[in-house]
Amino acid sequence: MPPLSVDQIRQAYLDFFQEQGHAVIPSASLIPENDPTTLFTGSGMQPMLPYLLGEQHPLGKRIADSQKSFRSVDIEEVGDNRHTTFFEMLGNWSLGEYFKAEQIPWMFAFLTERLKLDPQRLYVTVFRGKDAIPRDDESAQVWKEQFARVGIDAKAIDEAEMHGMKDGRIFYYNEKKNWWSRAGEPAKMPVGEPGGPDSEMFWDFGAERGLHEISAWKDQPCHVNCDCGRFLEIGNNVFMEYIKTHSGFEQLKQRNVDFGGGLERMAAAVNDDPDVFMIDVFTPLRTELERLSGKTYGKNPEETRAFRVILDHLRAATFLIADGAPPSNKDQGYFTRRLVRRAIFFADRLALQTSDLCSFSADLIIKTYAKAYPDLVAKKETILSALSAEELQFRNTLIKGEKELKEYLSAKDTMDGAKVFYFYETYGFPRELTEEVALKLGKQVTDPSSFDTAKEKHQEGSRTGGLGKFKGGLADHSAETTKLHTATHLLNAALHRVLGQHIAQKGSNITAERLRFDFNHAEKMTPEQIAETEKLVNEAIAADLPVSFHLTTVDGAKDEGAIGVFDERYGEQVKVYVIGDGGAKVAGSGKMGDGPVFSKEICGGPHIARTGMIGNFKIQKEESSSAGVRRIKAIVSGGPAEIEVAKEVK
Ligand code: SER
Repeated sequence: MPPLSVDQIRQAYLDFFQEQGHAVIPSASLIPENDPTTLFTGSGMQPMLPYLLGEQHPLGKRIADSQKSFRSVDIEEVGDNRHTTFFEMLGNWSLGEYFKAEQIPWMFAFLTERLKLDPQRLYVTVFRGKDAIPRDDESAQVWKEQFARVGIDAKAIDEAEMHGMKDGRIFYYNEKKNWWSRAGEPAKMPVGEPGGPDSEMFWDFGAERGLHEISAWKDQPCHVNCDCGRFLEIGNNVFMEYIKTHSGFEQLKQRNVDFGGGLERMAAAVNDDPDVFMIDVFTPLRTELERLSGKTYGKNPEETRAFRVILDHLRAATFLIADGAPPSNKDQGYFTRRLVRRAIFFADRLALQTSDLCSFSADLIIKTYAKAYPDLVAKKETILSALSAEELQFRNTLIKGEKELKEYLSAKDTMDGAKVFYFYETYGFPRELTEEVALKLGKQVTDPSSFDTAKEKHQEGSRTGGLGKFKGGLADHSAETTKLHTATHLLNAALHRVLGQHIAQKGSNITAERLRFDFNHAEKMTPEQIAETEKLVNEAIAADLPVSFHLTTVDGAKDEGAIGVFDERYGEQVKVYVIGDGGAKVAGSGKMGDGPVFSKEICGGPHIARTGMIGNFKIQKEESSSAGVRRIKAIVSGGPAEIEVAKEVK
């Protein structure tokens, strides 16, 4: 029997958790909505954050999914056998319901019974405690019982005594390893940030396994967290029960489970091959790249690295374009551009015989993912043409850049890091390739750290600088962002009245300082339209309308005329936020009240309880965002510092 495919593993996971009473939701977009802290969805829990903090999820307290994720910080790391920028994260959540005693046995059953992973080769870690947070003996005990069920006496070892494996199966590690929050270990967490101890699971590829590029662990005192390559982390159970305060930690108002496991990594474990690029989703493209280059994957380390960069980057670019980030110079599109350019560079290194590498590759990737992600198929034309155009443009730039580089080098004996950065920034030349060209021409690269200095300087002044990372702090739950969020609903409703019913949200991004709202509209708004919109919003604020939400089905929401993004992600049950006197359902009748409704919109929340708390609303800017899409930036001022949040009406 061939090993389970990525499609089969994903399905097995979702089925398993559905059987445990979880609502399975589709993946959210790679481009987050309403989350100003990050450019990309980089983990499964990110879109779940409001619910982990206590916002009611329309589908209940048990949720599972496979979330598309992209981590831009890993771009330069791609090339080894485990890093990818795009991946799918399998996730399951207890939103204040089950905890360790359920999560750990389920995970164990899923891995050993459904994926048929040999329990002898599974190892786990738990938190060893820090300050007021106790050592997680409870998780260790539950794991012990699981291993005992299959006849394994799981010995627990504390980090302090650790030297190699010591026949251990369960390892206690410190807060740098076994604590999870978006900001990292407890000391780094800003006030208001949730987090908790975690328990990670590792697959052992075997001490004897010869990996071509990594053999460092042999005869070394290896442990599960060492980077030698013998062990691969395949999942992380976060027991999110704390929130950082000024004086330390408090219990969150609910105890959550946040499980995240890399689908590709699980597939590598199932494959029993430590190279994630050997899993089935990469096979069609990998094989074609071998054919087009006449080179064999896995033979020569440098070439293998090039294969991996192309496989990773073009898969990521395909998904990013599908989610609305075609190659461009700003925001998310900037990363798509970098991915495409790096892929082409590395393709040249393999001397690939094609001038349309990107769209050709995307075509194969779309076929591979057609079943799991039918939207890729639906958007195929857009994806392929964006990639073809970018490749053509870049190949032209490449010719120009190479010419400039050669001219520069012919006149100089050395090249410093800052100049290497210039070519990186201007032409997208990866650093190591520019350095290589210089070395080949017998020139020296001096002051390499000036590359980083130049890069940092550039990032400070650029829109994408510092983004892609969590800035910490729960901007999305502060009083200011909540007011702006409700103001966004008023704005959306006002635009429907002023510009017409064709208006649809194309993006929303809210920080504590301002709201940003993108919507489809062909023309620039006139000053009168802007003034009218602003007036309508301020009138709704002055009327101090009540805000509430109720749960209904997608069809129910459509029937009652709710607007908003009918994101398939919400599944069967949705939350509809109503602003206006008619918001409350007439108790018991299931009907809406009769008062005037200003806005009715599908949304995850949270919102303020009355519009009066918003203060004064002001549109600062109306501009073009992209073809056919306008962008409004607006601020609010003068509302109270303390707010009350909108409640459910049953
Ligand atoms: N939040 C954890 C992670 O991202 C588990 O989902 O690793």
